[in-house]
Amino acid sequence: QTKLVHITDIEKDKAVLEEAGRIIRAGGLVVFPTETVYGIGANGLNADACRSIYAAKGRPSDNPLILTVPDQQGAEKVAACITPTAKKLMDRFWPGPLTIIFPRQPQVPDAATGGLDTVALRCPDHDICRAFLRCADVPVAGPSANLSTRPSPTTAEEVMHDMDGRVDMVIDGGPCCIGVESTIVECDGEDSVTILRPGGITMDMLKEVVTYVRLDTNLVTGQGAPKAPGMKYRHYAPSAPMTVVVGTEAAVTAKLKDLYEDALADGKTVGFLVSQEVGAHFPKDDMYIWGRRGDKAALANQLYTGLLSFDTDKVDLILAEGVDGDGLGMAIMNRMKKAAGGNVIIL
Ligand code: TXA
Ligand code: MG
Repeated sequence: QTKLVHITDIEKDKAVLEEAGRIIRAGGLVVFPTETVYGIGANGLNADACRSIYAAKGRPSDNPLILTVPDQQGAEKVAACITPTAKKLMDRFWPGPLTIIFPRQPQVPDAATGGLDTVALRCPDHDICRAFLRCADVPVAGPSANLSTRPSPTTAEEVMHDMDGRVDMVIDGGPCCIGVESTIVECDGEDSVTILRPGGITMDMLKEVVTYVRLDTNLVTGQGAPKAPGMKYRHYAPSAPMTVVVGTEAAVTAKLKDLYEDALADGKTVGFLVSQEVGAHFPKDDMYIWGRRGDKAALANQLYTGLLSFDTDKVDLILAEGVDGDGLGMAIMNRMKKAAGGNVIIL
């Protein structure tokens, strides 16, 4: 039985957050909101509780969990050392959508880190989330609250679709404002970081603080094992196959028209996940408009809800419009490429 609770006011709803904290300390599962996507929380220092996250998500056990902390002091309790570069990153970007990889202290169980000797830490920029973390009073293991391989949920409704009956409590804090998962970085030398997963904190933002910012080779070439184990899995996938097209408004519209006509000729039903401008050229049914063309924040925010909307609409094919890879576009295109199984056309 999953208890769904709505939190609007941290003070007024204090008793509910305390109950959520007790569930975590007792080894249970609580879904919580963050500024990126919803997370499924368990006591990150309790191996059995961590294992029940894998069971609830149907997640492979070699894919490590992120530990979620309310502040830097929370990180000091589980990181074996904090380098000056990591400290600069925390000072600048916490609370916020940046996950940092640290060497772990021995009390962090293998069940949380997939056996790695490092631990991923994140401090969300979300008041309800941090109030919940303070009530829990332990680092909360918190992967995205979707079934493994599915798009991450950005509303409590989407959470309930995947997790109803699998967790003890879901805290509804309203829609997540960013909509794609946090950026993950590893500090790999003095004044140097590698991005393992692009996200809400962009490469340019990182360069304001750190001199050398690189991308994990796997993100650039698609070759080799990604350093964030979870990045190797098929992910974010809607139930229908998807093609993503990127280019000028005219080029994208023309290409999508071709693909649409081919699909109709094959007797297929088509869903569109496109900007307002491109959407205006196509019939209105099975159309998910993510926002104005070029508005990357809007696309990030609407991407997963858009993908999930076609699950219930049951189309045979999704035709989507992407964006260039600059800024937040890097995170968006990383997710779209995975959701489309690599089927991205750049015009
Ligand atoms: O925005 C987010 O980060 C969300 C919210 C809920 O906080 N969480 C999230 O967690 O996206 P999850 O579990 O869906 O993704 C965690 C990623 C996985 O790709 C995993 O392989 C990687 O982080 N990861 C975790 N620990 C790691 C470690 N020690 N070294 C390298 N990668 C790690
Ligand atoms: Mg995930």
